[in-house]
Amino acid sequence: MTVLQKNISKIQCLDLNRQHESIKSEIFTAFEEVYDQTAFSGGSFVENFEKDFAGFCRTRFAVGVNNGTSALHLALLALGIGPGDEVIVPANTFIATAWAVTYAGATPVFVDCREDTWQIDAEKINEKITTKTKAVIGVHLYGQPFDVAAVSQTCESNGLYLIEDAAQAHGALYKKQAVGGFGEMGCFSFYPGKNLGAYGEGGGITTNNEEYYTHLLSLRNHGCVVRYYHDEVGYNMRMGGLEGASLRIKLKYLPSWNNRRREIAKLYQEQINNPKIKMQFQPSWADSVYHLFVICTEDRMDLQRYLNEHNIHPGFHYPVSCHLQKAYSTLNYQQGDMPHAEYLASHCISLPMYAEMTEEEVSRVIEVLNLY
Ligand SMILES: Cc1ncc(COP(=O)(O)O)c(C=O)c1O
Repeated sequence: MTVLQKNISKIQCLDLNRQHESIKSEIFTAFEEVYDQTAFSGGSFVENFEKDFAGFCRTRFAVGVNNGTSALHLALLALGIGPGDEVIVPANTFIATAWAVTYAGATPVFVDCREDTWQIDAEKINEKITTKTKAVIGVHLYGQPFDVAAVSQTCESNGLYLIEDAAQAHGALYKKQAVGGFGEMGCFSFYPGKNLGAYGEGGGITTNNEEYYTHLLSLRNHGCVVRYYHDEVGYNMRMGGLEGASLRIKLKYLPSWNNRRREIAKLYQEQINNPKIKMQFQPSWADSVYHLFVICTEDRMDLQRYLNEHNIHPGFHYPVSCHLQKAYSTLNYQQGDMPHAEYLASHCISLPMYAEMTEEEVSRVIEVLNLY
């Protein structure tokens, strides 16, 4: 159906190689220092990153851990959430948001997203609150902040904790303020493909509360403050030195990488004019860092086939809404319970999005989509 030339090189959803090529000498120099000091677990490379990351998020403290799921898990434990408690989470998120609640022994209670922003719907939280509800985890999904004021207000008026899942939103701004400092704690993932990704797995928790901070330091390190004296059941969820060292280097570049993602998103938003493509609404108070650029279309498998034919390889985030995942079948949710999240799950497709995309590649994606 199109006259577009097909023999151009592959455009992937994400290509980490290019970023690696641009920083590898700096990374390898830092790795040599980690090896020379045999600082493989915790230590100064992690501590220096923690200080820098807290500064970046404008919070008093940051705690490095082994991945983003652990960050959420430990945040819940630090709040004393456990068996018998309920935690409200959006149905439209990566499953790890809900896993953390399950790992803490509590029950995730799913709430639908808004039809326009695709983020947690603050108005629907109220109807999910019971005497067992202890917290809400809001997710800054795809890199776009959720409506923090609306969700915070619901939390405050019902005596609930707010945790931010900022796993996809390092550097995103809500009303010009960095995410990660609005709730009791902000939880980040440094999975390699994230806007700020480690050379390895990683996660982090930001907070302004010193009590949580000291508790988190103990929880991530076998429940001890003094070595071999275990005051509570703890975990081995420490961050590694190689991860800390690589993250500290990459953090310097993050603002420019995020700005490049914003530029690409603007081009997509302004130049994709195919009425078959629906985009996420961007409220004026949300300054997204576009971890993902998700669109919706009626027949996304057909769009995937078409894009693949033109050597463009999209992703799906996420094809099954959390409340309908088999792992949570015992919670007895039904198809139709969360209409907006279910619509997204069956119509979403993610366009290529990473800071190193060339102008030519971005134009190519736009051109191909406009001819669909
Ligand atoms: C929204 C969200 N929450 C939590 C996580 C969990 O992070 P990790 O994969 O580092 O455990 C992710 C990572 O993909 C995520 O996207």
